[in-house]
Amino acid sequence: MASSKPTANMLWGGRFTSGLDPLMVTYNESIHFDRRIYAQDIRGSIAYARANTKLGLLTPKEFKEIERGFGQVMSEWDEDAFKIVPGVDEDIHTANERRLGEIIGKEIAGKLHTGRSRNDQVATGMRLWLRDELRAIEEHLVSFLRVTTSRAKAEIAALMPGYTHLQRAMPIRWAHWLLSYGTFFADDLERLREVIKRVNRCPLGSGALVGNGFGIDRDAMAEELGFEGLINNSMAGVADRDFVIETLQWAASFMAHISRWSEDLIIYSTAEFGFVRLADAYSTGSSLMPQKKNPDSLELLRGKSGRVFGHMAGLMMSAKGLPSTYNKDLQESWETMIDGVKTISDSVQIATGVLSTLSIFPEKMRAALTPDMLATDLADYLVRKGVPFRETHHISGRVVALAEQEGVLMDKLSVEQLQDVDERFGDDVVQAVFDFEQSVEKRTSKGGTSKKSVLEQIAIIQELLQ
Ligand code: ARG
Repeated sequence: MASSKPTANMLWGGRFTSGLDPLMVTYNESIHFDRRIYAQDIRGSIAYARANTKLGLLTPKEFKEIERGFGQVMSEWDEDAFKIVPGVDEDIHTANERRLGEIIGKEIAGKLHTGRSRNDQVATGMRLWLRDELRAIEEHLVSFLRVTTSRAKAEIAALMPGYTHLQRAMPIRWAHWLLSYGTFFADDLERLREVIKRVNRCPLGSGALVGNGFGIDRDAMAEELGFEGLINNSMAGVADRDFVIETLQWAASFMAHISRWSEDLIIYSTAEFGFVRLADAYSTGSSLMPQKKNPDSLELLRGKSGRVFGHMAGLMMSAKGLPSTYNKDLQESWETMIDGVKTISDSVQIATGVLSTLSIFPEKMRAALTPDMLATDLADYLVRKGVPFRETHHISGRVVALAEQEGVLMDKLSVEQLQDVDERFGDDVVQAVFDFEQSVEKRTSKGGTSKKSVLEQIAIIQELLQ
C-alpha cells in the first residue's frame, strides 16, 4: 500500500516528503464509511462551483465541465463502478475530486477547491445526509404513532390492570396504556422536528475556519442545497458536530422509551400475563425447547438502546475538550452517526411491525382485574358522601383487611359487613363501586382513562401527524 513516497499523490501531499506508516494510512482513512455521502458531496461541490462561477473564479464553460464530470462520477457510484484507489482516496472528498480530475483534466478540476476546505465540505455533506435520514425517520415515527392511535381507537373497550411498581394498581383501558407511550413518542416526534431544523443549517463557505476570501454567496449555496439557514460563524461552522451529538441524544432518549415499551410488552406476552401475543414475524423459537416462542424483536429493541446510549456518550467524550475548530477527532462522529441512524431507523420500523401485528386478549386482561383494585373507588364512594379522604382511605383499608381475613374477594362482602366497618356505606355501595367499567369511566379528567379522555388524547396525537 505504501510506495516509496505515498503522500505524493495525495491532495494535501505537496509539503510532505516522507511516507506515512501504512497502518497510519488506513487509520486515517474514512472512505469506507463516508463513501455513503458521495451524492451529497457532489451536490455540495456543484453548488460551490456555481457560486464560484458567479464570482468569475470559474468560466461558465469550466463550470459545465465540472458538472459533466461530476455527472459521470455520480453514475459510477450509483452503478457501483467507482474504483477507490487504496492509500490515495483517503475520504469521499478526495476520492470525488481525484476522479473528477481524471475525467475533465486536472487543469479545471484543480480550480474547484478554491477558498474551500474539507472542513466546511465534510460538515456540509454530513448535514445533508443526516437531514434526509432524519426526515425518513420522522416518517417512520409518524407511521408508528398512526398504528398506536388507530389501535387505541379500535381497542378502546379492552380493560386491563394499570400497574405501579409492577403491582396491580387500578383498572385502565388498554388504549390508555398504548397512549401513555404514544405521548412519549409524540414528544419524541416534536423533539426530532426541532433537531432536524438545527441539522439543516449550512456551513459551506466557512473555509478552513476564517470564512471565504472571494466573497462567496453563502445564502445562494444554502438555498440550492435546501438548507434552512446558515451556520453564522465560520469557526463554529467547521468545529460543530453538535448536530450529530444532538441527533444521538435524541436517539438515546427515543430508545429509552422504546426499551420501556418493549419491556412492558415482554411482560404482557408471558404465559403468566397472556395479555398479548406477538406475531410469528416478530418472534423466534428455541433451538432446544419446541414449545418456546420468544419475543426477540422486543428484546432487541430493549438491547439496542444500550448501543445507542454508548454512541452518544462515546461521541460526547471524543468532542469534549477539543480546541477550537476542526480537529481530526471529529472524524469519529461518522461511525456513531451512521450506526445510530441505522439502529433508530430499523428500530422504529420493527416496533411498528410488532405493534401492527400484535394480538391482544381482552378476556385475559379482564380476568387479571381484581376487586381490591377498586379499594380507592371504595374510599372515593365515601368521599362523595363528604367524608375526608384520609379517613376514607383508612376505612377502605379496613375493608381490604376484612376481606383477607374472611378469605373472600372484596366485592363478595355483604353490605352488612361493609356497614359494620362504617355505617355510612349505603345499600348501593356494591353496585356503585365494584364495577371495573364504571371505575374507568369515572376518570374523565383530561389525560384520564375514561373513553372520552382517551379519545381526546388520540385527537391530540393525531394533530401532530398531519
Ligand atoms: N474525513 C475528514 C472527516 O471526516 C474530512 C475532513 C478532513 N479535514 C482535515 N483538515 N483533515 O473529518
